[in-house]
This record gives sequence, C-alpha cells and structure tokens, in this order.
Amino acid sequence: MQIEWQIGPPSDWQTDAIIFFVFEKSPEPLPGLKRWMAEEGIWLSRSAALGDFKGKHQQTAVFYGPEDKRIARVVCVGLGQADKFDVEKLRSATAAALRECRDLQLSRPALPLSAFEGLQIEIAPALEEALIAGMLGLYRYEGLKTRDLEPSTFPETLLILHDKEPDEALRNVILDADAIASGVSFARDLVAAPPNVSTPSFLAGAARRLADRYGFRLDVLDLEKARAMGMGAFAAVAQGSREPAYFLVLEHAPPGTEQDHPLVLVGKGITFDTGGISLKPGEKMDAMKHDMAGAGAVLGTFDVLGRMKIKRRVVGLMPCTENMPDGKAYKPADVIRSLSGLTIEVISTDAEGRMVLCDALAYASRRYQPAMIVDIATLTGACVVALGRSVAAVMGNRDDLTQKVQEIGMRVGEKLWPLPLWDFYFENIKSDVADFKNVGERAAGTIIGGIFLKQFVPEEIPWVHLDIAGTAWTDKDLGFAPKGATGFGVRIFTEMVRRLPEL
Ligand code: BES
Ligand code: MN
Ligand code: ZN
Repeated sequence: MQIEWQIGPPSDWQTDAIIFFVFEKSPEPLPGLKRWMAEEGIWLSRSAALGDFKGKHQQTAVFYGPEDKRIARVVCVGLGQADKFDVEKLRSATAAALRECRDLQLSRPALPLSAFEGLQIEIAPALEEALIAGMLGLYRYEGLKTRDLEPSTFPETLLILHDKEPDEALRNVILDADAIASGVSFARDLVAAPPNVSTPSFLAGAARRLADRYGFRLDVLDLEKARAMGMGAFAAVAQGSREPAYFLVLEHAPPGTEQDHPLVLVGKGITFDTGGISLKPGEKMDAMKHDMAGAGAVLGTFDVLGRMKIKRRVVGLMPCTENMPDGKAYKPADVIRSLSGLTIEVISTDAEGRMVLCDALAYASRRYQPAMIVDIATLTGACVVALGRSVAAVMGNRDDLTQKVQEIGMRVGEKLWPLPLWDFYFENIKSDVADFKNVGERAAGTIIGGIFLKQFVPEEIPWVHLDIAGTAWTDKDLGFAPKGATGFGVRIFTEMVRRLPEL
C-alpha cells in the first residue's frame, strides 16, 4: 500500500472511503468528524447510524452515503474509552480500519489529518504510529501458495487528506513510516519463509541485495574462514549441518561516519534449531524455523537504514547456521575454544544460540571499537515462561542503558522488561574442565543465557541483550502483527539509531 497526500478543501476530497476515529461512550464525535459532517456529510449526521455505533476498540462500521457523493463511504473505527486511550489503541484501531478497507476491496481509502484532532497526542508521532501500524496490519506472507489466494492488492493507496500544504516534518513522517513498515515487513518475510528456503545462503543473499541497493559493505565469512579466524563456537554448531553456514558482516558507514565508533547489532541466525544431538522433542519442532528472527531483525533494520539514509555508522553481525544432529555434530561434553580464547564445556547442544553469539560478540569487541553492542536472539524458552508472548527480556552491563532501551521499546510498541545480570548467577555455569559451561540449572534460564553472553563483552563496552524467544512469532492475529512472524526488534533498533547521541 502506497501513501499519498491529497491537499485541498474538504469539498474537493475524493476517496473510496474516509476513515474517522470514534471514542466509546462519547456523547460527541471527535472534532474532525463533527466538522466534516457539518460541511460534507450532513447525511451521516442526520441518520441514526452513527449513534448505533458503539466505538469499542478495533470495532469498525461502514456508513454508505447517497449515491451522488464524491465520498460514498465513511469507515468509523473504535478507539475504546477516551480515558483508556493510548498510542497502542491508535495503532490497532488504524490497522483494523485498513483491514476493513481491504475486506471491502477498496483501492483508495483516505485518512484525514483532522481525524487525529481531539486525541490529545502530537500529530506527527501519532500519524507515524498510525501509518506504520496500518501498513503492518495488512502484512501477509505470500509467494508459496498456489491456490485459494486472497486478493492482496487492496488498498492500493492510502490518501492522507489535509486542507493545506503539510510542513516538512509531516511530509517526512510519511516517508519514515513507509521505510519502517517496509523494514519490518522485510524481516517478517525472512522469518516466515520455511527453513528449506530461508537458509544461511538465503540470508547471505538478502544481505547481498541490501548491500547492492544501499551501498553497504558486506563480508560473507564461510565456515572455513570463520574457523580459521578462531570462531570455534560458531564452527562447533555449524559443523553438524550440510547446509553451508555463513557469518555475515554488514556495515553502513555513510561518508563522514567511517571513523565513528559504530553501533554493532548482533542477530542470532539459526535457520533451523533441531537441538542438535540434544535433540528437541518432535512436537512443535517446526516452530524452530523462526530461530533466525534475530538476524531477520538486523537485516530489516538495515533495510530501514538504507531507505531513511540515516547518517550513522552501524555494523550488523549475523552468525547463520542450522543446528543439526549429525555424525560430525558437536556433542555434549565437548570443550570448545571460542574466538575470545575462553573455553566452553558443552552441556547441551540445544544451547546453540549463545555459542554462535559469543563469537559474534567477541568479534564485535575486537574488530571495532563499538560505541555500543546490542544483540537480539530467540535465546531461551524460559523467556516465554517468564514474560509470555508479547514481552521480550532486556539485559545488559549498564542499568541506565538497559532502562533507556526499555523505554524506547515501550514507545515504539515493542515491549521490553528488564532482568538482572548479577554476578552470582555465574556460579550456575562454573565448569570443572573449561572456563564455564553453556548451560546451568533450569532456573533463571533467560538470565543464565545473558550471564553467559556477558563473559564475551569487555566491561568498558556498553552492551544490551534482547531475548525475543516469546515475541518473534505470534500464533494469533495481533492488531498490527497478523499471525506469524512479527519483525520484533526492527522498530527498537531504528529508534535507537535515530536517538544514538542520547543513549
Ligand atoms: N531456540 C531455542 C529457544 C526458543 C524456545 C526460542 C522457544 C523460541 C521459542 C534455543 O536455542 C534453545 O533451545 N534454548 C534452550 C536452552 C537450554 C538448553 C538452556 C531452551 O530454551 O530450552
Ligand atoms: Mn536450541
Ligand atoms: Zn535456538
């Protein structure tokens, strides 16, 4: 769906349907709708129809005007009660309105800026959030179905109606929203693709296309190269797979930023996690195709960086491999030497995420002088137990930074909650034969994962770890994330890059 401005007085507006927001149990319509009805939609104000609409959150109603009107339909969408209103409600309401337009197969519905009047939030951020959510709510993963296809071309264009020329800030809102929604959708596509399609080679190809399109630098390290460089932990996981593994290094350094300390984003790219020799139970193993959602989020973020031409140096590291049982697979009790030099006793081959990430963290710390490292990974089932499926865990080595990242997540609608990485948790992974083990006791599993990773980041480098095991995939339709891959993380990273100086 494209977004276009339509500038002119309401008497000139032309659209298949005009969208307005409605509060539940409100005696009066919001000012934008009220004014439009007075000027253009007297038919609506005279009928009992609007009064019958309850305005419950995400509820929609379509009102049909007299035939001769330039605007034949009004789509109202409920925001719920005014005193419980927040941006989250605005997001899901906009998504619901646009899905209604799709169901009606409308090509050019419209959202007037006046629809935001009376919501008590600033217009620019409100419009940005509404547009991103509207676009993301229409997302579908397509390409593999050959029959029973639903038409996906609707709406073609969303018109933004306004009676005067928008200022530059408002114009940019549309461009930014489009870039962000595209990046999130790109991440969703990578994660939704089945594991025989979305292989490490496929991710390398996606990184290649981004690099070519936006002028990023890309290094694709194959298994031999990675092993030769000393990435023993990444190699240990990769050696059990017949599918070629790649360690991807993507760098965005626009002119003038080449010497800056980069923000380094590290994404777990396990394209399928069987558990390896510590094999997972068969039931629901198919869910483990989304174990590369961290890498997907990093690639999605780079798509946004390229589209928005953000002038910041950002590096993306993605260790990509399957985790398979095999004659050559690494096994419990193996001791592995990681890139950092630290030795790891393998207790479970199913704790593969931390193995591949630890070499990426060490690589980031040595190769760059990072301003900050943020890793993102579907790391632990325990995270789903602790926080559920709509909240990701955030940890790190600076409490103030962890808190700022959490705030950013909350602001963009990707919820984060902090867990502590106190030193005493390390007791859990002490080993008799190596520097430490890759698994501790079951308790506090998400924290133990974080404690393990912490060993690979020098104290002086600010570091944040996001465990997205619960949020990378959704089994039910959420307002602006239809069932399937969510693209979680792209919005947080984009916002972090935008606000880097404040962090
Ligand atoms: N990829 C899984 C974690 C996961 C579980 C992600 C459910 C998404 C949904 C990870 O590699 C894993 O297997 N973790 C183990 C860690 C354990 C061996 C310490 C787990 O959670 O059981
Ligand atoms: Mn695993
Ligand atoms: Zn995994």
